[in-house]
Amino acid sequence: MALYAIGDLHLHFQSEVRSKSQRRERIWKKHEEKLRKACLSMMTEDDTLVLVGDHSWGKKLEECEQDLEYIKALPGRKILIRGNHDQFWDVKKTGRLNEKYQPELSFLQDSFEAYGDHAIVGTKGFTFEGPFYLDGRGRIIGWDEENEEHAERLVERELQRLRASFELAKAAGYRRYIMFLHYPPTNILQRQSAFTDMAEEYGAEKVIYAHSHGEMRFHDSILGEMNGIEYQLVSGDYLRWTPAKILE
Ligand SMILES: [Fe+2]
Ligand SMILES: [Fe+2]
Repeated sequence: MALYAIGDLHLHFQSEVRSKSQRRERIWKKHEEKLRKACLSMMTEDDTLVLVGDHSWGKKLEECEQDLEYIKALPGRKILIRGNHDQFWDVKKTGRLNEKYQPELSFLQDSFEAYGDHAIVGTKGFTFEGPFYLDGRGRIIGWDEENEEHAERLVERELQRLRASFELAKAAGYRRYIMFLHYPPTNILQRQSAFTDMAEEYGAEKVIYAHSHGEMRFHDSILGEMNGIEYQLVSGDYLRWTPAKILE
């Protein structure tokens, strides 16, 4: 039994790709086939795969059904975290998605999933991504303050959702946590954030995140150990479409 994770599949069986890099870069060519083969060769039905957001380019559920069927057909149990592009997933209607797709797929929102003596907790998260103003040498000298204010409100809401997930797991008796965020836990200006603080407050063992894809962005946030917590980026192109093993 093992726990794996990967994010940013950006599937498009019934919809249009809306990113230039995904249309042009080699790493994205038949990426769904590369992932399927990797999963079939390394995973069994006893394993669990967490999909860390940005599952589909479809805007409505009807445009995502084949993408979700593809995920459903991967081996093992699948847990989905919401990404910023997952427009088919309205937080308030998470219950309906679970009714439709469980037991094969579990949509994790304001809830947790058990994995042995660990609880899988998480939410989409949020990080401020600018726009930043740069000087002639490319150094950041300011940023869009209105956008930053908006970002702060989104961060606050996501923190409440993350806390709800931790608290439910805690109330159910769990004391060991693996925390998932779609967005990186910090933005490019931060060394810590309210998300890393919450991971430390609850004693999460690992923080797994995605969203940063394209080589330029692989180092946007924390990689490796910080204050006793392991931070790991699992965006699909970063992992070259081979899920990362998170726990045995
Ligand atoms: Fe993405
Ligand atoms: Fe994203």
